[in-house]
Amino acid sequence: MRFGIICVSDRCFAGEREDKSGPAIAECVSALMDAEEYRLVPDEKDCIAGAITELSDLFGADVVFTTGGTGFAPRDVTPEATLSVIEKTVPGIPEAIRVKSLEITDRAMLSRAVCGIRGKTLIINLPGSPKAVRESIEVVLPVLEHAVETLGGNTQSCGGNYGR
Ligand code: MTE
Repeated sequence: MRFGIICVSDRCFAGEREDKSGPAIAECVSALMDAEEYRLVPDEKDCIAGAITELSDLFGADVVFTTGGTGFAPRDVTPEATLSVIEKTVPGIPEAIRVKSLEITDRAMLSRAVCGIRGKTLIINLPGSPKAVRESIEVVLPVLEHAVETLGGNTQSCGGNYGR
């Protein structure tokens, strides 16, 4: 699988902080990874949208993960940037992440993360902290291969589940 990983952080972009969440994403999906492309962008809607479209359309990522910018801070615009470039929304993924994450912290309800499809790429917003990244990816990992196969047009992968 080809993964795009985008760290959205003014502080990391300015070199004031090291991005530990991008590497955490790469580690979590390492068993599924054939290729990876990484971008570090500030909390600017155009920069985030540009990185998502580049990794989707040019790099041909199966899945693009963003980390950060999903909260309430004035400059948090990752969901808005994502919504501006996706063609279909996938509400179930952020719903599942928030449900599971609420078992860990009440603050999970403060993530405005969204998920959607652009072409054959699945774009998933994750919160900013490495801890939240690990907790959130754990929720989607079990469905990722099936999601990507289906996006690629392989309906066989549903197997015996059809017609239930
Ligand atoms: N989800 C999980 N699983 N674990 C966490 O620690 N932190 C929350 C939430 N989601 C958290 C989580 C917090 S404190 C915030 S403010 C929001 O994600 C948004 O985070 P972001 O602004 O870094 O994207």
